[in-house]
Amino acid sequence: MCGIVGYIGKRKTVPILIEGLRRLEYRGYDSAGMAILENGGLHIEKVAGKIAALEQILVGKEFSATTGIAHTRWATHGVPNDLNAHPHVDGTGKIAVVHNGIIENYRGLRGFLEKRGHKFASDTDTEIISHLIEEYYNGDIVEAVRTAMSQVTGTYGIAVVDLNNPGTIVAARRGSPLIIGQGDGETFVASDVSAVLGHTKQVVYLEDNELAKISAFGFEISTIDNIPVTRELQEISWTLDMIEKEGYPHFMLKEIYEQPLTIRNAMRGRLNFEEGTSRLNGLNLQYDELREIDRIIITACGTSWHAALIGEYLIEEYARIPVEVEYASEFRYRSPIIKDGTVVFAISQSGETADTLAALREARRKGATVLGICNVVGSTIARETDGGVYIHAGPEIGVASTKAFTSQITVLSLITILLARMRGMSHEEGIRMLDALNMVPEQVEEVLKRDDEIKAIARKYHEADNFLYLGRGLHFPVALEGALKLKEISYIHAEGYPAAEMKHGPIALIDDKMPAVVVAVKDAVYEKVISNIEEIIARNGQVIALATEGDEEIKQLSNDVIYIPKSHPFVNPLLTSVPLQLLAYHMAVLRGCHVDQPRNLAKSVTVE
Ligand code: AGP
Repeated sequence: MCGIVGYIGKRKTVPILIEGLRRLEYRGYDSAGMAILENGGLHIEKVAGKIAALEQILVGKEFSATTGIAHTRWATHGVPNDLNAHPHVDGTGKIAVVHNGIIENYRGLRGFLEKRGHKFASDTDTEIISHLIEEYYNGDIVEAVRTAMSQVTGTYGIAVVDLNNPGTIVAARRGSPLIIGQGDGETFVASDVSAVLGHTKQVVYLEDNELAKISAFGFEISTIDNIPVTRELQEISWTLDMIEKEGYPHFMLKEIYEQPLTIRNAMRGRLNFEEGTSRLNGLNLQYDELREIDRIIITACGTSWHAALIGEYLIEEYARIPVEVEYASEFRYRSPIIKDGTVVFAISQSGETADTLAALREARRKGATVLGICNVVGSTIARETDGGVYIHAGPEIGVASTKAFTSQITVLSLITILLARMRGMSHEEGIRMLDALNMVPEQVEEVLKRDDEIKAIARKYHEADNFLYLGRGLHFPVALEGALKLKEISYIHAEGYPAAEMKHGPIALIDDKMPAVVVAVKDAVYEKVISNIEEIIARNGQVIALATEGDEEIKQLSNDVIYIPKSHPFVNPLLTSVPLQLLAYHMAVLRGCHVDQPRNLAKSVTVE
């Protein structure tokens, strides 16, 4: 996903833009560039490759500019090359644009503009924006942007500079997030708060179909239809060191190790031991409304979808409410059946995933109560739901989601207890489950102490080309998530399956070159999983088992065993997920992969 940074103020803009782009690197990108107002000219520097390549072409050049915009591009239209990198300029070379999103009607607009004599230098959809602004430009850059963006369909977050309006940056948003940060005599615009956190904690979020005229001393927001908007600055709670690595080699490892704290934060203030239930006021639902829920749909993407599957197992098992889990990208285009009593949960770490946002809008259109389980406060999904629960995992910088996943499961566990205690779960059982949750942070600490063992196992298997991940019940989604972690950071092909499904096909793949990771903790289906392990061993397969501490039998059956502490089955997924994160991490490092920014991936997919 692209990154945008803009600055207007009293300091030199180039170092601030470069620093901002670096804080947005985690979003994934393939080229970078900037446009600055330098000595009465509009100066563009842009290049395919990483930010280091951009810094390289700046070597030896001195800039005094105090206004500029910058961009990291994640290609959607046009290959990653210098020409397609942003910013893009209009025909006069005086207006520059950076853009995050997809202009769906860019072909028609390009044809219209070409007929009007405009010439295009790139293959991007973005370039039509700069020419469209030029087409409507009469000296007022804000109104030219407003008119231009009214012609556009699709999604955008843009920042615009105009040589003839040096004291202004214009920003506009529909579908791709933009924040404005206010400093002392300087103002910032960026795709997310991490780009400005080192300079200010005072921000506002642009909403869809809004524009902002930004100067060094403030900003004026209006709707695309030119209705003024008043919006108060709010204080960001995150600190700079929360988005730094703090001595870890990768953000991903730091975030794996943060989990005892982040899981604690996800439950902080929400364990109601007096009544043996959880406290989730953000749901904005009264007790009778919660009791009337007779069907739940959970929609999400990727890792969040795996968390949703765990939510399904938990809520059906303990609260006895039917749950359906839907890929958001599918849900948004089906005609979902929503009746009274149906509640839809949208799970999203970033709160900006386009498919999940569209799915919740479809659910609301059909009359559902929609609740969010998000990490980023003030994110679009969080703001468009009727209520919800923040997971409080702090900024998750590594593209591969880890701490957000376990915090999502923690929140789903709390929701399960809340709903179950209204439907028949006893006070005593509620207390038992709260106690089990309360012990998880310390138990995750125990699991993290096995990191060296896990690293040794990773060393044995990191050259494999294929992996199978198997689990039953709550551990089937854990297997799916373990496989996704391995795929997305080590590029090893991995598939997750319900363990019993293996004999319906995948067992044909088993040989001594295809390791199988099997979640075999002591629970109700343990013996069944042991049978699956024996089926693998009988075919010369290799087994890495996740087992419960004290289980000696499994050592005889497996090539390697990773132990987790004995716990209530209800919280097992929180414990079994962590070793699989570490296993994937170490294999990726051993394979020399870019763990925090895996190829082709973005941290938040704000395009379809
Ligand atoms: C997870 O490791 C991936 N980076 C990806 O699947 C991610 O979970 C998915 O894109 C959903 O993101 P969200 O939670 O921000 O909506």
